[in-house]
Amino acid sequence: MACPFQHGSVPATRMPLAAAIAVTTSSGAASESAGTSTSDAASSGERQPVYYGDYLRLGTLLSLQQPESTHGGTRKAAHDEHLFIVIHQVYELWFKQILHELESIREIFSTDHIKERDMLTIVNRLGRVVEIEKIMVDQINILETMTALDFMEFRDYLVPASGFQSSQFRVLETLLGLRPENRTRYSQETYWNAFSDDDAGKLREAEGKRSFLELMERWLERTPGLHPDEFDFWSKYKAAVNDILAANRAQVDHAELTPETRQAVLAECDKNELSFQSVFDPAKHAELREKGERRLSHKAMQGAIMIFLYRDEPRFHLPFKMLNLLMDVDAFFSKWRYQHVMMVHRMIGNKLGTGGSSGYQYLRSTISDKYRIFIDLFNISTYLIPRSKTPPLSESMARKLNVFME
Ligand code: HEM
Repeated sequence: MACPFQHGSVPATRMPLAAAIAVTTSSGAASESAGTSTSDAASSGERQPVYYGDYLRLGTLLSLQQPESTHGGTRKAAHDEHLFIVIHQVYELWFKQILHELESIREIFSTDHIKERDMLTIVNRLGRVVEIEKIMVDQINILETMTALDFMEFRDYLVPASGFQSSQFRVLETLLGLRPENRTRYSQETYWNAFSDDDAGKLREAEGKRSFLELMERWLERTPGLHPDEFDFWSKYKAAVNDILAANRAQVDHAELTPETRQAVLAECDKNELSFQSVFDPAKHAELREKGERRLSHKAMQGAIMIFLYRDEPRFHLPFKMLNLLMDVDAFFSKWRYQHVMMVHRMIGNKLGTGGSSGYQYLRSTISDKYRIFIDLFNISTYLIPRSKTPPLSESMARKLNVFME
């Protein structure tokens, strides 16, 4: 495939894109007429030719790496500060791209009825976000080629700036669904003081929007088959689970076991039953939600369990894929946090962060379940039952899940 900026053999001529393609596809080399068509295009008021460096604003982009260690131009810059700046800038560009993708998905999700034809777009874009996140995790390795001693050459010049102040990162966390109360104490207390007025405004705006988690919750609550007048999935699922739990107990009753083993197995049965009770009983679910241990509403949990169990039905293929991608988004975010903490430990040991936190200790506290947005989706596996025990779909439900409807 030709490079979209290809100029054939006339690089000095700013040939229009269309002309470049026409010239190279017809003969494989630029022809004399190319120059003529360029000037014709310009004089006839057609779109001006695009030039690679102008299009990408390279003049500006490549002048944006300004090391602090030159001390206002009076000293030679610390060698590794260039890498440090480039890596951060690349991260900020990736954050921007992720926000661009998520914003477009949020727009689709913000309607009360998501067209099924849009599901492929959502899945594609979420897949892109996940691929970017993988790169983000790997990029830490490049920065780790800088040693702690090299970092010391310029670190003090950066105080009190810190990644803690990355407003795009914060908007991202917020739009995905991280709640302020789930932030580590230090972060809760110092959060707003860290930002400029401009950045604080962007964060407030993000906090005013419905998060991805909330939008997904509303969508899951509408899962077809949940309504009691429809398939009434929840009653059927509870009956199937209760049968399984009763069968487990009966097995223990009839097995020849030592008293100790019996006690241990029965304790396991109790634990299992309690776990299912926490999802059956709306009051228990609400309690866990109150404590922050569950994020999704009771109805949305039901929708997610249903999609996981009946994911082989055609209309659930893309919803299932989407839920899995959301878990990937969460998992790679956590992996980035982990890689970042490990790097920070290697670079500064137990010194304070330039932003004033305890550094490694503070960041370690952010690798916790509190920072996991879609943790309920991971926990759903606890409530899955084997295919052979899954309630069969009614004829009308099977038909509904096999037909694409708008
Ligand atoms: C030598 C490399 C790095 C070191 C030593 C470092 C150190 C730290 C420290 C100590 C903190 C805690 C806040 C503070 O007191 O400053 C922090 C937070 C943060 N850093 Fe880095 N960092 C490095 C590279 C990066 C890079 C490449 C990024 C990419 C954008 C980044 C993004 C962040 C973010 C987003 C936070 C906030 C995390 C949170 O509060 O959950 N850091 N960093």
